[in-house]
Amino acid sequence: MAAPLIAPSILSADFARLGEEVRAIDEAGADWIHIDVMDGHFVPNITIGPGVVKALRPHSAKPFDVHLMVAPVDVYLEAFASAGADIITVHPEAGPHIHRTVQAIHTLGKKAGIALNPATPAKTLDYLIDEIDLVLVMSVNPGFGGQSFIASQMRKIEAIRKMIDKTGRTIQLEVDGGVDTTTARQCCDAGADVLVAGTASFKGGAACYSANIAALKGFD
Ligand code: DX5
Ligand code: ZN
Repeated sequence: MAAPLIAPSILSADFARLGEEVRAIDEAGADWIHIDVMDGHFVPNITIGPGVVKALRPHSAKPFDVHLMVAPVDVYLEAFASAGADIITVHPEAGPHIHRTVQAIHTLGKKAGIALNPATPAKTLDYLIDEIDLVLVMSVNPGFGGQSFIASQMRKIEAIRKMIDKTGRTIQLEVDGGVDTTTARQCCDAGADVLVAGTASFKGGAACYSANIAALKGFD
């Protein structure tokens, strides 16, 4: 099995030194930079907006994996695209016409992802799978870092792996929430190829980042 890509969530970084933190996690071997955008309405927390994404852009050449937990979402797509997002992931519950949202992301020249909350079934993807570039399985309820992995989501990862393989297209299968060295391995066994990790990437400070990422990839 190939090692997964690791997308550290900067939600667990030191917000007073975000630029430095992005540089440090990039140099430590992060494959993507995962940016959690929360609006205090779709989820019960408020994080960062497009201005911060733009300010961080010069600090890393790695793909910016922007996870929008914002409703309505369509009105913000352009702002995040021009701020430097490479992948824009949205929740089906965050807009009235998710298929149109995916089209809009592609029109902006970005990769489109769909995020499924723990209670949102895999079949939500039935009429979207042929259009999207990424599926994000939320293994915690969105809103906060540091939560425990919800075990039932392993079955969903397995089911979506089958759906993806059936398409014959390249669609990344990413898991977000409660990923540590134990659950990382289980997610990969179930078919994930990208792992978001906030707490597990940033724990211990900058001196630990490369060991943290290596451990998540299974190289330790
Ligand atoms: C939760 C976010 C996650 C979160 C992951 O709403 O989407 O990206 O920050 O954090 P950990 O890895 O700490 O569970
Ligand atoms: Zn996220």
